[in-house]
Amino acid sequence: ASQMRNALNKLADSVKGNPELHARFENEMDSFFSLFRRYLIEKSSKDTTLDWDKIKSPNPGEVVDYNSIQQSENVSNLDKLAVLKLNGGLGTSMGCVGPKSVIEVRDGNTFLDLSVRQIEYLNRKYDSDVPLLLMNSFNTDKDTEHLIKKYSANRIRIKSFNQSRFPRVYKDSLLPVPSDYDDLLDSWYPPGHGDLFESLHASGELDALIAQGREILFVSNGDNLGATVDLNILNHMLETGAEYIMELTDKTRADVKGGTLINYDGQVRLLEVAQVPKEHIDEFKNIRKFKNFNTNNLWINLKAIKRLIESSSLEMEIIPNAKTIIRGGHEINVLQLETACGAAIRHFNSAHGVVVPRSRFLPVKTCSDLLLVKSDLFFLQHGALKLDPSRFGPNPLIKLGSHFKKVSGFNARIPHIPKIVELDHLTITGNVFLGKNVTLKGTVIIVCSDGQKIDIPNGSVLENVVITGNLQI
Ligand code: UTP
Repeated sequence: ASQMRNALNKLADSVKGNPELHARFENEMDSFFSLFRRYLIEKSSKDTTLDWDKIKSPNPGEVVDYNSIQQSENVSNLDKLAVLKLNGGLGTSMGCVGPKSVIEVRDGNTFLDLSVRQIEYLNRKYDSDVPLLLMNSFNTDKDTEHLIKKYSANRIRIKSFNQSRFPRVYKDSLLPVPSDYDDLLDSWYPPGHGDLFESLHASGELDALIAQGREILFVSNGDNLGATVDLNILNHMLETGAEYIMELTDKTRADVKGGTLINYDGQVRLLEVAQVPKEHIDEFKNIRKFKNFNTNNLWINLKAIKRLIESSSLEMEIIPNAKTIIRGGHEINVLQLETACGAAIRHFNSAHGVVVPRSRFLPVKTCSDLLLVKSDLFFLQHGALKLDPSRFGPNPLIKLGSHFKKVSGFNARIPHIPKIVELDHLTITGNVFLGKNVTLKGTVIIVCSDGQKIDIPNGSVLENVVITGNLQI
């Protein structure tokens, strides 16, 4: 730890000029140091895993059903609300450079455009002035600023602030990778969305919101198109005086890995798969035992954040994330220590979960998800995606192979989104191209062997078929 402290002091000294920048950076290095020290302590004590026998299902009141909370059209509560989109992440897992939120989702709109439209519509409909905050990172701020410029004349206040920039550490020595403030970008990382609280406070936005009379912050992932402002939850939060509400939704077999709420030592906590001892993983994935999972749609009281940050009581479980970077032509193993904002739930008074309909959880993690949200299964209404009313049952299960991993590969092979309202299951692997006006129904499996190509012609209707080989139908 003392070696780390020296290295961080040196880093702080490398900031030239601007005293404000220097102060902010010094602050960041102090936050990183306390995270790092906690990591060392937890690593050496080894008994940080939870005691499985103490894990209990939440008490009645600790997780409530959306249908049981009071319906409200109490529009005046909107004066107390601010909305925040987590926007620090890149689109690398979908093969994109730049922020994930600038990926085009529908009718020329990016995730960010749709979030703006949702809030603009809300403010127009209710004559309110709910501000939209974006938490960017050093990876996403420039592109985001560029994109939101076009909204400066619109009826919406958009404020952005940057989350922290922490140094990655070498996996072997645990010393920081960057040697000065201006070191290469991949020497640094944004430390997960748990950093929200600290950065909101450090940027001055927390105090600014409180001064404007805002009480509640609605936080959600930038890629969750179902996370619209819900007056019932807002009202419920104010009525119950809860300082933190986590929206959960029922697990299906496709999302067994999501974090779930538990009662531990009489306290509501988030249990993530990474904290589960190996011998209990199957139990954790059992959808009857742990019925619902965290959507990361969170409603948080602003004054409570201030109280907890200022008393340094907002510790969240550390998630070590291993990465590799290239230095001198060699791959080097590094670590980044992250936290998640859902893990903060245990520090807030009267915190509880609300089980919401699946429609409030519509994340886009892969191009299979992208196909779903671009399709006729949904229609766009004031920036929000609504399910086609003729659709029954769960969303179709879509599995696209490695040729569709990157958005560019996906767009090249599926330039026109097929009709899928009657689809249950789609698997496509290999070099497959879909033509215009294709309709897919029931279960459709298209498997193209290596080195070959399958073209699905314009206007094809495929229903319960398996297509393999090098077929030009
Ligand atoms: P993640 O990449 O963490 O998604 O980004 P995930 O794998 O679904 O993780 P969980 O389950 O939500 O933790 C989720 C959102 O958080 C933002 C991303 O931009 C995305 O909107 N994010 C992530 C940040 O703002 N900062 C970060 O450091 C990491």
